[in-house]
Amino acid sequence: MTKNVLVLFGGQSPEHPVSIVTAVGVLNALDRNHYNPIPVGINHHGDWVLAGTHQPDDADWSVATLINERPVETTHTTALSDELPEVPATDTPVALRSVNSSTQLIDVEGNVIADIDVAFPLLHGPNGEDGTVQGLFETLNLPYVGAGVLASAVGMDKHFMKIAFRHAGLHVGPWVTVTETDWHTNRTAVLEEIAKLELPLFVKPARGGSSLGITRITLLSELEQAIEHARQYDTKVVVEQGILGREIECGVLDGLNGAKPKASYPGEIVVTDDDQDFQFYDFTSKYQSENSAELSCPAELADDVTALVRAQAVTAFQAVDAAGLSRVDFFYTYDNELIINEINTMPGFTPISMYPQMWQRTGIDYPELIDTLLALAQQD
Ligand SMILES: Nc1ncnc2c1ncn2[C@@H]1O[C@H](COP(=O)(O)OP(=O)(O)O)[C@@H](O)[C@H]1O
Ligand SMILES: [Mg+2]
Repeated sequence: MTKNVLVLFGGQSPEHPVSIVTAVGVLNALDRNHYNPIPVGINHHGDWVLAGTHQPDDADWSVATLINERPVETTHTTALSDELPEVPATDTPVALRSVNSSTQLIDVEGNVIADIDVAFPLLHGPNGEDGTVQGLFETLNLPYVGAGVLASAVGMDKHFMKIAFRHAGLHVGPWVTVTETDWHTNRTAVLEEIAKLELPLFVKPARGGSSLGITRITLLSELEQAIEHARQYDTKVVVEQGILGREIECGVLDGLNGAKPKASYPGEIVVTDDDQDFQFYDFTSKYQSENSAELSCPAELADDVTALVRAQAVTAFQAVDAAGLSRVDFFYTYDNELIINEINTMPGFTPISMYPQMWQRTGIDYPELIDTLLALAQQD
């Protein structure tokens, strides 16, 4: 019997276009013998709309058909072009409701479009990866892929994430958190605290993603402006000491039936830096540039370092109480120190993204990964 999977994508986050590309990848790789996908997009207003309304049964999904445009000859399914795709503002609005302990997708008149068995949220950033949509699924008693409410919220918050990591014995870099209250009532003291960190500094919205709102500063005179910039994304800001080192990532996949989570081979992000604009692994190099960031996997690391990365990735996963999948990002310094940067509970998940690529090279391909995640979501 096939199960109906709600493939939820888009969302009110800057990572909206990335999420659309992810949904295309997942829809094309889903095992149709077991799963019937029901794609639903969340547009920039936060409205849920039925997606893929013009999708021909026998064709591959594309960005265009997913966002309810008619099929066209050429579409971008891997890299995003300059014109970023969007879930349309109009089209069939839909909602979820719970009736007799089953979850229904309904239209505005209350007609049932489908009974939903499991949700696959492919949302990144605020209102998607941060526990909010997970809370909605919980209230509907609907099984869903990935981390629960708490892990999603902690994994989205660069302040609380560091506290959880540190408590689990992981090494986090020096940082100072600037809350809304600090900024208004305690500014001088907090700026003095930050001045003790070594330059350069990375100034980040605490709950953001895709490198948006992050500034790397090399002078303390740039600090207040960088904080104001980050505050446009979140009123809580973290200021971190810059870490000089290689960027190493590791995929974690939960174990079925209580088995221990597994770690992939570590990968390394190699940002080709011939363009001076790329100060770090920023939004453009992540999503809009063909060759500015490349994954090397397995990363060239000594065997004991590889083992340490994999063990610490699992520790980080457990430290925030994650489930399903996560990508854990580290810096490996030139003094051979492993410092954890962050955990992403819904990492980039297009077929060419780091997480699926690392698993591919570890022996689990994209369709199998999706199958495993859906099985994990539905286990008791
Ligand atoms: N403390 C730091 N030291 C050096 N580089 C950093 C630091 N923090 C962030 N970066 C660079 O900025 C990028 C984005 O920062 P990150 O914290 O991962 O934000 P996001 O959650 O948006 O991915 C990193 O991949 C890295 O290239
Ligand atoms: Mg990151």
